[in-house]
Amino acid sequence: MNIVKLHATTSTNDELKSRFRESELPHLTTIYTMEQTRGKGQQGAIWISEKGKNLTFSILITKNIQHLTPFLVNQTVSVTIVEWLKRELQVQAKIKWPNDILSVQHKLAGILIENFFSGTKLTHAVVGIGLNVNQETFESLPRAISLKNITGREFDLESLLISFLSLLKNNLRDPLRVAQEYNRYLFRYNQMTSFKSSKGSFEGVVKGTDPDGKLLLQINDVLSSYELKELEWMY
Ligand code: BTN
Repeated sequence: MNIVKLHATTSTNDELKSRFRESELPHLTTIYTMEQTRGKGQQGAIWISEKGKNLTFSILITKNIQHLTPFLVNQTVSVTIVEWLKRELQVQAKIKWPNDILSVQHKLAGILIENFFSGTKLTHAVVGIGLNVNQETFESLPRAISLKNITGREFDLESLLISFLSLLKNNLRDPLRVAQEYNRYLFRYNQMTSFKSSKGSFEGVVKGTDPDGKLLLQINDVLSSYELKELEWMY
């Protein structure tokens, strides 16, 4: 596996994209860093992570991606994180659609995938993952949690990364099978849940996702699909 360790960079997603623009890189090339000076979160947010304590990394996916949709890539990555946490670390986690991994209702990891197309076909994806590992306190992030907080143990970052990448490599051989497991790990699946939208608060039962990656909610016996921009989880 082609793993590059950096002392610091702006964002591992940006670093990987710029290296890939300059030269071909093998499938699953991974960059991880001890510090990001401009770590990116979803929807223009900043990803904050204490220096040297957590895994902040990006993986290049180039193989067998042409037949996948961006949401299938997202599902495969999300399911892999949760399966890996369970199998390797005995940590129970859920996927809070569409990009968060929660454990004990707190955010353990965040995913930021950047997709690249030729026409309508995906050519490659840069999968960025921030996983809270050894950080103990999260000032001004009351909903964050780390593996150390959950297990009481300290982890070696590189060993964790290698073990995660090996499961991802395997799961990417059959992403459709992996993606089928998505609902099983979906936060609040089949449960009545509160959301907020521009029209106010409402409740619905989480019924899964549609092929475009919209969230399916059943409200008064009617099934409707929602985009991320349209709602906020209340939990
Ligand atoms: C989110 O929950 O908002 C997504 C966070 C994604 C953070 C990771 S850290 C490694 C990679 N590089 C970035 O700049 N962002 C992602």
